[in-house]
Amino acid sequence: MISLTSQQQAMLDGAEGKAAQKALQILLALAKIYQAEELLPVSSVQIAGVSYDNLGEAGLEYLTEMADSGGRVKVFTTLNPAGMDRENWQALGIPPDFARQQIRVLDAFARMGVVTTCTCTPYLVGNLPVFGEHIAWSESSAVCYANAVLGARTNREGGPSALASALTGFTPAYGMHLEENRRPALTVMVETGIHGTQSFGALGVSISRKVAHLANKPVVWIEGILSASLEELKSFCASLATYTGTAMFHIPGITPESSRYLRPEACVSVSRKELEEACRELNPIQDTPVDFVSLGCPHLDLPEIARIAEILSGKKVKKEFWITTSRPVKQMADQMGYTRIIEESGARFATDTCCVVAPIKGWFNCMATDSAKACYYASSKNQMETVFLPFEDVIQEALR
Ligand code: F3S
Repeated sequence: MISLTSQQQAMLDGAEGKAAQKALQILLALAKIYQAEELLPVSSVQIAGVSYDNLGEAGLEYLTEMADSGGRVKVFTTLNPAGMDRENWQALGIPPDFARQQIRVLDAFARMGVVTTCTCTPYLVGNLPVFGEHIAWSESSAVCYANAVLGARTNREGGPSALASALTGFTPAYGMHLEENRRPALTVMVETGIHGTQSFGALGVSISRKVAHLANKPVVWIEGILSASLEELKSFCASLATYTGTAMFHIPGITPESSRYLRPEACVSVSRKELEEACRELNPIQDTPVDFVSLGCPHLDLPEIARIAEILSGKKVKKEFWITTSRPVKQMADQMGYTRIIEESGARFATDTCCVVAPIKGWFNCMATDSAKACYYASSKNQMETVFLPFEDVIQEALR
């Protein structure tokens, strides 16, 4: 039985309006399902299910109703990528009917006080929790990054539960909020050097094969990785979360909670050969030529965009090339002159959105990317074939 504070009880009784009351009812229903004993205060929220492609009319109606009934967020809240670039949607070929509905979605969030920056890397644009903070985030790669790399605590929320946390400032205390669920249970010995976003993505795929037979996927303790950059970690988080469904891992010397635990005795290893097999799995032999190139799953940071500009400078791309990132990072790229160089090459920024949530099914046949997660959704959601390459080779593919 959950115990409520007097503030929570008043909210449940309607003292803070209908939207907050309904939101708290949603959280209490979740608390009952997961046997949570209390509601924890959260410091930040990130809401997924923003694309009209995923939400549809029913989702838009729900958001409009919550905004109309006075819903206002109580904590810093940002959004996951939407179905289009709000400023550049026409150039990217988004149909006007879709754009109209997507803008209504974003406007409903804005009316509730949500910061309508749409990104799966909120931690790059100021939605950055500190160690030990309880938060309520939705995007699976960001949830994994928040838990493992930042040491914050969040379950993978659905869109409605994340919005409910934003409107109330609370989340039920279960899952990744509790110490016992963050402990590692399986050691993964990585027996080969891992470098670059593609290799870290392949590692997530390899680990998923090792735990595929386990009903409850364990938190893994990964040995053999001596260093990892922010870009490599965000790629790994996206891949691990997509292919295993887990939201936490530890790498001694790299992730902050690893010092709390001992190496689990149960152990598996990942060899060079197995990593190569994971790459091949996302790179099947196929005859379809690449007609779409995309970098930015998860959304790119500024150094990655600088590298793209450096390689594309003075050249012309020969394929449709989308560079996906958040609006604040794109604004820094504008300021640094990277946007001009990239756009002069013929590549396009797809800001606020990505190659998975944009309504591009049927537009392309084969996509080149460095992201294991993008490969997964390109084939399962958008029925594209995939070519899985290192970051710089993806750029070269666009020039070929
Ligand atoms: Fe982000 Fe879209 Fe990939 S939300 S993690 S760029 S699938």
